This record gives sequence, C-alpha cells and structure tokens, in this order.
Amino acid sequence: MVSKYHGKNASQSVVTLSRKKAVGEKISVVTCYDAAFARLVDQSGIDMVLVGDSLGNVIMGHEDTTRVTVDDMVHHTACVSRVLTRPVLCADMPFLSYNISVPEALSNAGRLVQEAGAQCVKLEGGKAICPQIEAMVQSGIPVVGHLGLTPQKVHLFGGYRVQGREQKERDAMIEDAKAVESAGVFALVLELVPQDLAAEISQAISIPTVGIGAGPHCDGQVLVLQDLLGFEPDFNPRFLKKYARMGEQIREALISYDQDVKTGQFPGYEHSF
Ligand code: KIV
Repeated sequence: MVSKYHGKNASQSVVTLSRKKAVGEKISVVTCYDAAFARLVDQSGIDMVLVGDSLGNVIMGHEDTTRVTVDDMVHHTACVSRVLTRPVLCADMPFLSYNISVPEALSNAGRLVQEAGAQCVKLEGGKAICPQIEAMVQSGIPVVGHLGLTPQKVHLFGGYRVQGREQKERDAMIEDAKAVESAGVFALVLELVPQDLAAEISQAISIPTVGIGAGPHCDGQVLVLQDLLGFEPDFNPRFLKKYARMGEQIREALISYDQDVKTGQFPGYEHSF
C-alpha cells in the first residue's frame, strides 16, 4: 500500500543507497548516538546514519564495544530515530547478539527495527553469520556487513590493527565479502584494510563498500562523528580527517563560563528578568 502515511524517511532508503554504486555516486555515512547531534546530521547531505556500537567507547566510556548490550542499542537508536527524517538509519547489532542462534539474532534485529526505528542493521563477520543474514533479509530486515577489523573481536585480534596484509587473510576476506553479498547484505563496511585490498573487494562485489581506514577506492566512507568533529585532541589515527576542533572549543567555552560565574560576569542584566 502506498499512501501519505508511507513514513518519514522517504528521501533515502536502502534501495536508493545501493543504486548509488551503479551510477558512480559516493555514499557518506557518519555515526550518531543521540537526538541533539541527529538534528544536525539531518541538515547535512549525509546519506546514512549508523548508531554504531562504538557507542561503548564514545558515549559510555568503555574500553571497547564488547560491553554494549541490545538494550543500550535500542535506547540510543530510538533517540536518533525520533528526530532523523532524511538519512537511512542503521543500527549496529552488539557483541553476541547475533552469534548464538538464528532465532535470537532475528529477534534482536527485530527489536532494533520495531522498538527503536532502525531501517537496517549491521553485523560484523563473514561466512559464519550468513544464516543470520539470510534469515533477516527474508524477514524484511536489510543488513549491512562489516569485514576487516571487526572491533567486537578485539580480544582475539589483540588490538586495533590493519587486517588483510597477508595473502591468506586477503583471500579469506574476499571470499567472506562474496559470501555476505550472496547472503543478501546491501552494503559492506570495510574497516582498517589496505587500500588495494579494499579496491579489489569493491570490484569483486556489486553492492557498495563503505570504508573506514580502507582508502579512497571504496564506494562510500564512514567516520565516527566525534572523531571527525575533533572531540579528542590526542586521537589522531592515520585514517582520520578532522573537520573541526570541537574538543578544544568546548573546553574553552566551559572554562570561560566557569570564570564568568565565579567572577560575577554571568549572568548580566541582559540575562535577567
Ligand atoms: O561502531 C561503529 O562506529 C562502526 C563504524 C566505525 C563502522 O562500526
């Protein structure tokens, strides 16, 4: 049924995003975890918002993403979905929420769509999670894949390192990319992989690749919002371009406010009734 009640996210959909590759248009993606920033992202041309499980590091203060729960993801995805009108909204499925069984994976993905308002979900992994991807797609939940450095496996990798430098790893990643494409993902995040491997994968599959630390040959790019806004002056990985220095600006603003209150400069008559 098509009616005026077809939904607020009419201008972008997973279908319009996946078509961009065929016409050579790049896809821009950014993470977001709350309504205040979602309102600003909504006013840019950004194509997709990812409520990433980087929520754990960026917002919740954890060391890594393994502590993030489905309830955390539902809460933050709902905060974003209440105000987002234009970009596609994707929610990360957190650690172990999709690995234990297909029915559990499907019901957790269902919560992110039904309770939180996501239009699609992202899962980390290759061949091993193809049954889960197939079940979700068959049930009407579009899926984004994620290969390369998959942060939920940080303890197994022993840190956040570039993946796919060895031939064996490269071959396995190309096979995984083809496998998740066949299982039905409509886009694939490639994190921290050499640019020539990202180019090879982008050529080998027909769905768009979205890189982070994967070079310029991907079909789109994703960055963590607070990273690109420069919240942490000391966080300067090679793959990151900072488009603002907001950490310094916010600290300076808070120092000025503190001084103004303590010296009686704020509030002035103009702020008073
Ligand atoms: O959780 C996240 O923010 C992500 C992106 C970095 C791709 O998975």
